[in-house]
Amino acid sequence: MPSENELNESTGAFERVAGEEQSFPTPPWAEQTRTPSMPEYRRRWEKSIADPESFWGELARELVWDRPYDTVLEWNRPFAKWFVGGKLNASVQCLDKHLDSSATDKTAITWIGEPGDRRTLTYRDLYMSVNKLASALKQLGVGRGDRVAVYMPMLPELPIACLACARIGAIHTVVFAGFSSQSLRDRIDDCGAVAVITADGGWRRGSQMRIKDIVDDAVKGASSIKHVVVVKRGGVEFPHSMTHGRDVYYDDLLSSADDFAAPEPMDSEDPLFILYTSGTTGKPKGIFHTHAGYLLGTMVSAREVFDMRDNDVFWCTADVGWITGHSYIIYGPMQNGVSQVMYEGAPNHPTPGRFWEIVEKEKVTVFYTAPTAIRAFMGWGDKWVTPRDLTSLRLLGTVGEPINPEAWRWYHKTIGAGRCPIVDTWWQTETGSISITPLPGATPTKPGSATLPFYGIDAAILDEQGNEVTEGGGLLAIRKPWPAMMRGIWGDENRYRETYWSKWDGKYYFAGDGAYRDKDGYFWIVGRVDDVVNVSGHRIGTAELESAFVEHPAVNEAAVIGVPHKIKGECLIGFVSLCDGQRHSAELAEELRDLIAEKIGKFCRPERVMFVEDLPKTRSGKIMRRLLRDIATGKALGDVTTLADSSALEKLAREYRDE
Ligand code: PRX
Repeated sequence: MPSENELNESTGAFERVAGEEQSFPTPPWAEQTRTPSMPEYRRRWEKSIADPESFWGELARELVWDRPYDTVLEWNRPFAKWFVGGKLNASVQCLDKHLDSSATDKTAITWIGEPGDRRTLTYRDLYMSVNKLASALKQLGVGRGDRVAVYMPMLPELPIACLACARIGAIHTVVFAGFSSQSLRDRIDDCGAVAVITADGGWRRGSQMRIKDIVDDAVKGASSIKHVVVVKRGGVEFPHSMTHGRDVYYDDLLSSADDFAAPEPMDSEDPLFILYTSGTTGKPKGIFHTHAGYLLGTMVSAREVFDMRDNDVFWCTADVGWITGHSYIIYGPMQNGVSQVMYEGAPNHPTPGRFWEIVEKEKVTVFYTAPTAIRAFMGWGDKWVTPRDLTSLRLLGTVGEPINPEAWRWYHKTIGAGRCPIVDTWWQTETGSISITPLPGATPTKPGSATLPFYGIDAAILDEQGNEVTEGGGLLAIRKPWPAMMRGIWGDENRYRETYWSKWDGKYYFAGDGAYRDKDGYFWIVGRVDDVVNVSGHRIGTAELESAFVEHPAVNEAAVIGVPHKIKGECLIGFVSLCDGQRHSAELAEELRDLIAEKIGKFCRPERVMFVEDLPKTRSGKIMRRLLRDIATGKALGDVTTLADSSALEKLAREYRDE
């Protein structure tokens, strides 16, 4: 079927179709960016797919190599190796590379603490701290291939810790500081981390977080940990204790450390970091990324998607504890030598105008946040935005979950004054770098669509059987390897193959998302099709929560589902059946919600816990989450013929409504 929305090859713009809402790149975008038009995007994208070796090989010349690679790509489905035989170091790409350039004395990070304290660090400052910490870690006996957990609030020492690990060839595993001590311990145990780099505390929404206490609790049962390095947050006292022989202050370590640590020449395919993420089974997966491909993918995507220029002030509001912070606070922006804002606290503290105050004061030019934040700002009202001068902004981005068109329009109009393009970027911990996205100087955008694949991403929509859908809905898949793709799940090669490559006989990467493609080939991401729930852009595996529920002595069985939520995108509802003789009560429901917050993290606290006599199950004993979702969203109950006992269901639906 011919597209109604024909691409005008001479101008690169789509012809406007009556009734369809689109925004077009306007000058200076279309003239000054690296990809200045749709024909240019198409030409480069096609080249990246037809000949990935030469496309990425050319770009890889910009990396600083200790030893040149022999082969761009070795693809033994589903295992890819990029830049085979090459040697390089990630900290060199982010720091040493800028030493003799104009970026050396440029601000790398303007850090803003929640109570209002402020620090600025140049690229040279970062370089010096990273070298010192790297030397100190070496003195402690941490070295190449060792795993180091980083559990820290948003302080500049967090990227410093990651880059210091990279410099000596240690593998960092950052655990978001909102996770509980048990979650931290599980991750430490899974990868056998030898050290934790942490802080005494941090601020969140006006409260002091006692970070070190959480680490103490986690490390109690973690036998692999030999050292705990503690950054003092400063400003006020954060009460904590130190264990002699194990714990050491970051400042003390640095004061006696060498100024220079020679960067380890790492193999292109040596692991750079592990980042745990939720999947469909109970145990979080340690996704690992390697040096060369990940570095190239994040460097190129950062500068193309965010149009990074020398005088930019970039602000990605994500926490470094998630992949967004790894790729677009540390590795992408720093390889491009841009100045960034890093903020410790909450968007609504002390007022809901906090972010806009920071944008105004720091003259942020490119701003990257999550739809959940945008919806919250909409709810707090324009009065927090309009008094602020946001004219420094020139480009806006979103990530983490589908953005509803209403929030997109508000962002475009109220924050971007109708002049800033929006890049709605789809990607995952596993993809490592932005994978489906508009390019700001080229791609006409439609509110709610992540638009078109980035360079090197051969995206497709398939049905369950593996038939490709050119226009319509299905499952999101990727055909070919790309440089920043995950290399595996730590310690579990088989799980990588099973989870991501088995759905269509190893032919496609299965992303776990449902999506559809419109007549222009634009991708619209609908959301997860597995038992992963996206709460405020945080990815949560329901199986992990269910195992936490049944650890309570009163609980017999539990099923957790995600349902739509106005601000959070989705929220969690737990359906729980109790053991014989246990009585349900409002207090017990509260206790169970607290249990999840304590066991996994506060951000996982279910919205509601509903007690049920029995969970609806198929005759083969499988919990029918679909029916629970119908009940929770007030939908007419679907097909119940496969249910073992359908009589209890109407009762459950009534009780859910009435409670
Ligand atoms: O469901 C998709 C959603 O977030 C999932 C990946 O989560 P995570 O690995 O934590 O990484 C989040 C940040 C990159 C995806 O499977 N997702 C991410 N970006 C978008 C999105 N859904 C819709 N639109 C997006 N732009």
